[in-house]
Amino acid sequence: MRVPMIAGNWKMNTTVSEALELVKAMRAGLDEVDNVDKVICPPFISLAAVGELIKGSSIKLGAQNIYFEEMGAYTGEISPLMLAELCEFVIIGHSERRQYFNETGEIVNKKIQAALKVGLKPILCIGERLEENEAGLTAEVVTEQLRSALTGIGYLSGLVIAYEPVWAIGTGKAATGEQSNETIGLIRRNISELYDKEIAQGVRILYGGSVTAANAAEFVRQLEIDGALVGGASLKAAEFLSIVKQTSEIRGH
Ligand code: PGA
Repeated sequence: MRVPMIAGNWKMNTTVSEALELVKAMRAGLDEVDNVDKVICPPFISLAAVGELIKGSSIKLGAQNIYFEEMGAYTGEISPLMLAELCEFVIIGHSERRQYFNETGEIVNKKIQAALKVGLKPILCIGERLEENEAGLTAEVVTEQLRSALTGIGYLSGLVIAYEPVWAIGTGKAATGEQSNETIGLIRRNISELYDKEIAQGVRILYGGSVTAANAAEFVRQLEIDGALVGGASLKAAEFLSIVKQTSEIRGH
């Protein structure tokens, strides 16, 4: 049985004090919901303070990025060892990083390896761009991104995958539940081929892209979809809480 997960990707939003306010506004409500993994991913600089604030609660913490070297002369980067002390999850290969920071499949692969090595659980993001979708290339692109990210990786302990069609991110134009269920099914079949059926059945695969309280149910109701990676809507305490509650009602029992 896969435990559903709702993860909030705060992206480059909130100062440290704003992050703490946001956590305070959602902490008690989130803590009341069982049967769903609730993960928040604030900016790096807030991880320590937010971590203190959620100590003893059931809320889990994730980072939004990682560097693949463990230490050294890499000015401005954050290493796996630093993150392992602060959080449980790390988003890797988000389309914004691929698009604006030139992250290639090879870099994503190195980051996944680096995270797994220190026991961090990667949330690997994959998804096709609009023109690829329109050209009917979704299956091909997603398969290529997945296989490249997992090259040479022998075990997937704790890996979570987020299928995020790029055209649906931040656009208010979400995919349909049915479309994403189909693609997520394809991702699971690929994992089964790369590893085995049992591993594929155990990996959680989320949908991401314009998820809101109004459409979350459509996704978490699907058999293959194990939750959501939520951007914009995770910055509003009541809305994020509503998504988590709906997921618990639909999937959590
Ligand atoms: P969005 O972002 O919910 O604002 O579309 C999702 C994401 O980028 O993870």
